[in-house]
Amino acid sequence: MTIRLTLRRVAAALCVLLLGGMLFAWSGLFNVAATGGHWAATDWFLHWVMRNSIRTYAMTSVGTPPDLDDRALLARGAGHYAVGCAACHGAPGEPQNPVIQQSTPFPPDFSKGMAPWSDSELFRIVQHGVRFTGMPGWIVPSRSDEIWSVVAFLRAMPELSPEAYRTLAHGEEAAHRPQGAQAGMDALAMPNGGVLSGCASCHGRDGMGRDGDAFPIIAGQSEAYLLATLKDFASGARQSGIMQPAASRVSEQQLRDLAAHYASQPRPVRPAAQAASAADEGERIAREGIPAQQVPACLSCHGADGVARNPALPRLEGQHATYLAAQLHAWRQGVRGGRSGAVMEAVANRLTPAQIEAVSKWFAEGYNP
Ligand code: HEC
Ligand code: HEC
Ligand code: HEC
Repeated sequence: MTIRLTLRRVAAALCVLLLGGMLFAWSGLFNVAATGGHWAATDWFLHWVMRNSIRTYAMTSVGTPPDLDDRALLARGAGHYAVGCAACHGAPGEPQNPVIQQSTPFPPDFSKGMAPWSDSELFRIVQHGVRFTGMPGWIVPSRSDEIWSVVAFLRAMPELSPEAYRTLAHGEEAAHRPQGAQAGMDALAMPNGGVLSGCASCHGRDGMGRDGDAFPIIAGQSEAYLLATLKDFASGARQSGIMQPAASRVSEQQLRDLAAHYASQPRPVRPAAQAASAADEGERIAREGIPAQQVPACLSCHGADGVARNPALPRLEGQHATYLAAQLHAWRQGVRGGRSGAVMEAVANRLTPAQIEAVSKWFAEGYNP
């Protein structure tokens, strides 16, 4: 006996299959328990789909990487990894928590090694996460500078000894941090105990940062600005995948205490100001602005007491030039935010990249009020 295939019969068969599937799902017989994991075939299939997807999207959407061997970039990525990733993935000398292994699929334990992803594939994974696995995406997917810092660290991680990892992730604060297998989970519980220690991992207790220009200098910054910008991070008004989680783990009273602490730290004694020279374009922009481009004088807002209109605005002198320039570029790309960020977005949009570099360099090295 033969059954002729007609469109109507195929449609009817599909309907029966669909109804059967719905009935099975409704019955509750499908087991969603995480314990036990996937069948080998399901696991293979899902990872095959995942690898293909990541390979394809990594070809088009990741842009050009910076120098991934830069120590400052590595330190920034490591600092974030310790609080944002190690709890799930482990780290050198800090194996994964066994609780995590009861999820399906469970995150691979990077203290035991890592699959050979390319740089752009790692970028894609960290930027957007992996659906159906619990692997989260980056809070601000457009902050590619931050995502590359994590990629730089992931690349370096397999070669790191436990000591080298702790120094890269916490600097001098490593001595005050929990060690070994529990470190990742303890980091999640930090708010109660070591609030300042959590910040100091990256910024130091003195607010001077570490590893070159890895972190902005916050020592001696205006207290009002520190508090306002920390609240902006906590609420998401200022965008950073590294600082938003750090600031939102902390209560408002603790943010006040932290702002007071860092504001009271001595600002670095900078080398004597460069001899004022009319040729310094950065100085001219800061003091006079660029009337032809409608750029106001930076010092009218950012100058020292008595020069600036509002001392609650951030001090820029002695800050890393790379950080200042990065913030200005972020405003141009619309990804910095901040409660009064609109003012600076307008300023930054009127500057050329060369002018940004010149004025950042002058504030970093030349301004000594
Ligand atoms: C809530 C737990 C969790 C957090 C936090 C987390 N991940 Fe994941 N991650 C996962 C899971 C689950 C997978 C998918 C594992 C699988 O099935 O391949 C994954 C996959 C990955 C992969 C692909 C690994 C592979 O070989 O399959 C990388 C790389 C990765 N994560 C990096 C990171 C980084 C970097 C961070 C921090 C910015 C991070 N993860 C934060 C759970 C997490
Ligand atoms: C994982 C490293 C890391 C941790 C932990 C961290 N920060 Fe930051 N912080 C950064 C980075 C990186 C930036 C620059 C953000 C950007 O580029 O937008 C920053 C920026 C800041 C700024 C803005 C500086 C400015 O001039 O506008 C303040 C203030 C700050 N952090 C304070 C803190 C405090 C307080 C804590 C603890 C609650 C903390 N940070 C925890 C890395 C960290
Ligand atoms: C009209 C006042 C005003 C002028 C003029 C001005 N700024 Fe600003 N600037 C601000 C305000 C307000 C903020 C804080 C924005 C926020 O985060 O809410 C700021 C923040 C900044 C920051 C970020 C600092 C940090 O620690 O993250 C940089 C960099 C900056 N300005 C550079 C400049 C430069 C360079 C010029 C001159 C070309 C300039 N500004 C002119 C008001 C001004």
